[in-house]
Amino acid sequence: MDIDLATLAPRDRYKLLSGLVVPRPIALVTSIDPDGRPNAAPYSFFNLFGHDPALVVLRIERHEPRRQKDTGRNIDLTGEFVVNLVDEDLAEAMNVCAVDFPPEISEVEMAGLELLPCRRIAAGRIASAPVSLECRTFTLMRIGRTRELVIGEILHLHVRDGIVDPATLRVELGRYRPIGRLFGDLYCRVRDVFALPRRSFREWSAAGITRNRADAADRRNTETDPGPAAPGRPAG
Ligand SMILES: Cc1cc2nc3c(=O)[nH]c(=O)nc-3n(C[C@H](O)[C@H](O)[C@H](O)COP(=O)(O)O)c2cc1C
Repeated sequence: MDIDLATLAPRDRYKLLSGLVVPRPIALVTSIDPDGRPNAAPYSFFNLFGHDPALVVLRIERHEPRRQKDTGRNIDLTGEFVVNLVDEDLAEAMNVCAVDFPPEISEVEMAGLELLPCRRIAAGRIASAPVSLECRTFTLMRIGRTRELVIGEILHLHVRDGIVDPATLRVELGRYRPIGRLFGDLYCRVRDVFALPRRSFREWSAAGITRNRADAADRRNTETDPGPAAPGRPAG
């Protein structure tokens, strides 16, 4: 099957692309309006986009060309927001925050979330989130009439105690249970993890691996199980 995207209606492109490019991490974004009223909403057109500068990207859809979502409007007006990452325990509250409550109802309250002050920005962060990234708008791009792409610079990081070893900065996956978004109402857990050690060309050559023998080499790697994956390799 091959598909020319130009032949698909926007709705079908969304269905197809968001179903195939999975899992996506979820940003439960907290922000405030110019009067200091808090807002929280999940965004899965989201990712980390580098570390120097440390950037995140969000795609925020408008309800209508002239009606922004609260998150989009708050970021526009204040230039700040917090990305709270979502783990298994926070999943249900995250889903409550996606309800289209009228403006007078606070989703933060409805979801039973507590906000804590940030260090560098005025918006609050979610107390129960495993990780919160304090962000300032780096660039905001208008995409067509109904969407914004927000690039945020991460200024400060909060991580729940126990998730990161302070001496090595290694993440303890056994203590971190992020969820990912699949499509529709489906989500996934990060539990079935495997290691795939990355080789330099020197290591590749020294092992005498040829393309035809790659299978056997990979089997050998599995047999000498290197233990849990070590996240944090910076090269990408
Ligand atoms: C898991 C999940 C991911 C979502 N991702 C996005 C997204 O990437 N972009 C978007 O515009 N809306 C997304 N939504 C919908 C918004 O969260 C929803 O419209 C919300 O009510 C917006 O709230 P706000 O007006 O307070 O910003 C998502 C909803 C869920 C449940």
